[in-house]
Amino acid sequence: MIVAIDGPAGAGKSTVARALAAALGFTYLDSGAMYRSVALAVRERDGRPAEVARAADIGVGDRVVLDGRDVTEAIRAPEVSEVASRVAADPGVREALVAKQRALLQDGDYVAEGRDIGTVVAPDAEVKVFLTASPKERARRRAAELGGDPGTVLADQTLRDERDRSRAHSPLEAAPGAVELDTTGLSVDQVVARIVELVEAARR
Ligand code: DC
Repeated sequence: MIVAIDGPAGAGKSTVARALAAALGFTYLDSGAMYRSVALAVRERDGRPAEVARAADIGVGDRVVLDGRDVTEAIRAPEVSEVASRVAADPGVREALVAKQRALLQDGDYVAEGRDIGTVVAPDAEVKVFLTASPKERARRRAAELGGDPGTVLADQTLRDERDRSRAHSPLEAAPGAVELDTTGLSVDQVVARIVELVEAARR
């Protein structure tokens, strides 16, 4: 079974997807970590982003490994977030990473998290969730997680949201059939419990 969790930054996707995967005994796939890894590689190497993406060997288990190097922490730097949002708008990069993601999702049970899992990567996913939260709440969570001033985080987030939503290729939008879940004011456990119900309903 595939559970697709999409939505904007700070909606709680990573925390929820990780906890949900643990609760269900499914494997967690963080597709954003793959875009971030390509962004890091693009900053360090010459070459067109699409070629860098095709050539990159990216492992996204407990640690994120790029061509044999542990980049789990490095990909969370703010400069990498910025470049990731840019490379994610490149159709060639998306094509390369979607192919890698589909290959991973071929076997086993997954909670896959990103922006286009339900729309593009796994449109046949049995459960699709579009997580949202108010912009202010999302900025507050990101600032708490990464450090930094909530006002600056909100400004950066607004820019990246706009780029993710308005790009021509695979813009951020809820998939047909996705359940929209606003996590503002909800605990992680409450959100996970709600999605577990959706998984149980899909199994029946
Ligand atoms: O979820 P995140 O912040 O780690 O994602 C990093 C960037 O990659 C962000 O700009 C959105 C983009 N992304 C995407 O376009 N498609 C995905 N499936 C996952 C992430």
